[in-house]
Amino acid sequence: MSNKPKLTIDGLLAELATLAKISEAEPPVVTRVVFSDADLRARAYVKSLCVEAGLAVHEDAIGNTFARWQGSDGELAPVGTGSHIDAIPNAGLYDGCVGVLGGLEAIRVLKKLGFRPRRSIELVIFTAEEPTRFGIGCLGSRMMARVLSPEQALALRDKEGRGIEKLRTQCGFEGTLESVELPAGRFHQFVEMHIEQGPLLEQEGIDIGLVTAIAAPASLRVVIEGEGGHAGGKLMPGRKDALAAAAELILALEEAAKSSGAIDTVATVGVCDVFPGAVNSIPSRVRLETDIRDIDGARRDRVIDALKTACTDVASRRGVAIRIDVVNADPPATCDPAILAAMETSATEAGRSYRRMVSRAYHDSLFMARIAPVAMLFIPCRGGVSHRPDEYASPEWIGGGVHVLARTLARLAS
Ligand code: GLV
Ligand code: MN
Ligand code: MN
Repeated sequence: MSNKPKLTIDGLLAELATLAKISEAEPPVVTRVVFSDADLRARAYVKSLCVEAGLAVHEDAIGNTFARWQGSDGELAPVGTGSHIDAIPNAGLYDGCVGVLGGLEAIRVLKKLGFRPRRSIELVIFTAEEPTRFGIGCLGSRMMARVLSPEQALALRDKEGRGIEKLRTQCGFEGTLESVELPAGRFHQFVEMHIEQGPLLEQEGIDIGLVTAIAAPASLRVVIEGEGGHAGGKLMPGRKDALAAAAELILALEEAAKSSGAIDTVATVGVCDVFPGAVNSIPSRVRLETDIRDIDGARRDRVIDALKTACTDVASRRGVAIRIDVVNADPPATCDPAILAAMETSATEAGRSYRRMVSRAYHDSLFMARIAPVAMLFIPCRGGVSHRPDEYASPEWIGGGVHVLARTLARLAS
């Protein structure tokens, strides 16, 4: 491309703001759990923008959405871009949405400039990148790459005990779950734009992060069965308090991550359900959901082992029963050098500063990497804040990302 793309950032910002208002919570809080009414309304909005942009839209049986700009050579596999529009409870408006609406904006800019892609460019909106509903992240891309089989997907339940089959068909997603799987080669290459969700780019005053590897997330569910009873009547000796046992495990996990020897090791207990949950009743059952990550899979697994050892120790000392289920333990992904090189050239041409970095958050690209060469493009976010309503990326940062993404897509699709 000889001309610099002219970015209509005002329109994109207005679309991001409109999408943010499609929420289960009061603005500025964004909560958009997969297959909720807000999720369906958000999908409808984004699809309408894709149709308006002249893209051919279709959905698969789990609701992954594909919006294609047809290239001049229909025989060639498309270049993909995109991300997700679901949002965890109490989230902000940029996580995922910047990659979807920013990807669409990049396509519109290229169209406006009269660019004609040889390969098709396909925007993908993945179903349920967030694990909120079914406890497992990247549902749509996981199924595309068949890291999660249809049988495993059918066994998933939300908190109310509802399964995927009923929910997805109620939402109008038809066809067999088998058909969600995509073969390697279905996409020639895939590039995902996302906010960094960390502080480095902003701190260093750098416009673009070129992501070389995506950390390996693992999620373990721990259920502790103790013995309930009256909080006044039952004396302290001999108690089997499931929550006190859980507290020990939470601290053991924190210690295992802190002492791994690497800053890239992180571990979090984000869910703690206490039964029966009454102030004057000794907790008899606790369910913890843990999130353990590293860019080094073996080091991540050592933290998992430390948690398992702590479970055995706490169970025998406190006389409680502890069950651990591994919900997922995914390997890290390495990004494709050719796409990284294309992004680097594009950033240079666009006059944007850049650095290489790893992604400590997971993304659908982690699973797309199983079926296509992938890379990710990060833009800064204020204070590294994400998964909070005050998440923020400036128009300048978003504009820079769209500019570099547009140039990268043009390069890859030529
Ligand atoms: C994705 O939202 C993650 O938790 O990394
Ligand atoms: Mn997220
Ligand atoms: Mn995300």
